[in-house]
Amino acid sequence: MGWPFIGETLQLYSQDPNILFATKQKRYGDIFKTHILGCRCIMLASPEASRFVLVTHPHLFKPTYPKSKEKLIGPSALFFHQGVYHSQLRKLVRNSLSPNTLQKRVADIEAIAISALESWARGDQVINTFHEMKKISFDVGILSIFGELNDNYREQLKENYCIVNKGYNSLPTSIPGTAYQKALLARERLNEVLSEKIYEREEKKTVEKDLLGHLLNFKDEKGETLSKDQISDNIIGVLFAAQDTTASVLTWILKYLHDDQKLLEAVKAEQKAIFEANDGGRKPLTWAQTRNMPLTYRVILESLRMASIISFTFREAVTDVEYNGYLIPKGWKVMPLFRNIHHNPEFFSDPQKFDPSRFEGHPKANTFMPFGNGVHSCPGNELAKQEMLILIHHLVNRFRWKVMGSNSGIQYGPFPVPQNGLPARFWKDPAI
Ligand code: HEM
Repeated sequence: MGWPFIGETLQLYSQDPNILFATKQKRYGDIFKTHILGCRCIMLASPEASRFVLVTHPHLFKPTYPKSKEKLIGPSALFFHQGVYHSQLRKLVRNSLSPNTLQKRVADIEAIAISALESWARGDQVINTFHEMKKISFDVGILSIFGELNDNYREQLKENYCIVNKGYNSLPTSIPGTAYQKALLARERLNEVLSEKIYEREEKKTVEKDLLGHLLNFKDEKGETLSKDQISDNIIGVLFAAQDTTASVLTWILKYLHDDQKLLEAVKAEQKAIFEANDGGRKPLTWAQTRNMPLTYRVILESLRMASIISFTFREAVTDVEYNGYLIPKGWKVMPLFRNIHHNPEFFSDPQKFDPSRFEGHPKANTFMPFGNGVHSCPGNELAKQEMLILIHHLVNRFRWKVMGSNSGIQYGPFPVPQNGLPARFWKDPAI
C-alpha cells in the first residue's frame, strides 16, 4: 500500500503508470491492492475478475469520478450513473449511433477526412498530428450529435469546449483565472449555446435521427421528458468521450504504419483496390466497402491493443464484495487493468510486437477490451472504427507522410500519445 497518507502516488507519477502496475502484478499476481491519489484501490489484471466487476455484477460497483471533473462535464452525463437513468440514456446514445445511422454518415465523415488531409498537405508545414486528429474527431462528434450545424454554432462550441477540455486535465482550484476556473466559466457558456440550439430544434418540431433528436424526443413511462441540463450534460459527455480517445488512437495508427513500411504497403494495396473500383476516388466510399477492409481493420484492432489508450477504468464497491476468496471492502476503488490484460503474453504472444495478424483469429473472451466491457462499454465504438477506416482509406491512397524529429517516447495527456503529438509533414501523392 506504500507510504502512510500518500500511498504509492509518487511512484505513479514518477514513472510510466503502467510500469508501477506491471511491477506489482509480477510480484503479487493478477489481483492486488494499492493506495493512490488518496484512494484505496483493488487492481484487477485478470479477465475473469474484470468481467465479474463490469459484466456480471455491475450493480455492486458504481462508476466513480472526482466531483471536480463531474462538474465540468455535467453531473447528468450517463457515465456517472447506474440503474434506470443510465440504461435509458444509454439506449438513446446507442440508437443515435446505430448501424442504420452510421451508414448515412459515411459521405459526411469522408468529407471531413478529405478536407483535413488536404489542409495538412498545404504548404511546407509540420503539423501536430494529435491536435489535427482532435479537430477531425470533434467534427465527427458534432455530426453525430447535431447532424448539420452552422459554422457560427460550431465555432462557439469549439472555442468553449477547448477551454473545458484544458481545464479537465488541470488542477481543480477555486482561484480565479486558473485553467480549472476558466473551464467552469466556459462550461456555463456552453449551456447557453446549447440552450439556444435546443430551443431552435423544439421550434422546428422535426424528428431528427442525431443524438440531440433522440434526447429531445425521449419520454419515460410516466411521460416525463429530459430537462435542458440533462440534455446538455449528455451532449458534452458524448463529445468528451468521443474526441481525445479517437484522436489518440488515430495518431498511434499513423505512427505504427509509418514505422512498418511493409505493412503500410500491404494496407495501401488493400485500399488501392477499393479506390480504383471507385473510379480513382471519384465515386464516394460506400458503407459496404468500409465493412470489407480486413487488413486495415486488423491494423486498427492491433493499434487499439498496443496503445491501450484507456489503460484502466474505475469503479467503487457499494458494499463489501467477496470475489474468489478476496474481500473487496465497501468504498474501495476497483480498477480493471485493460492494458495489463492486453499486454499479457498468456493472451497475446510477444505482446510488445505490433502484429495485426494476431487478429486473424478471435482473442480469448474478455481479454480484448479497448472499448470496455459490460453495461458501460463504449456505445461509440463502431463510429470510432468507421472514422478510422475512412481516414486511412484517403490517407494512404492520396497522401504520403513523414514523422519529424524523434520518433519514440510517449506523452500522457491523460491518454498516451506519441511524444509531442507526433509532428509530421504530409504531401499529396504526385501520382494521384
Ligand atoms: C477509439 C475511440 C474510443 C475508445 C478507445 C473508447 C473507449 C471507451 C471505454 C473503454 C469506455 C468504457 C469506460 C468504462 O467502463 O468506465 C467507453 C465509454 C463510453 N464511450 Fe467510448 N471510446 C471511444 C470512442 C467513443 C466515441 C466516438 C463515442 C461517441 C460518439 C464514445 C462514447 C462513449 C460513451 C457515451 C461512453 C459511456 C457509456 C456508458 O457509461 O454507458 N466513445 N469508451
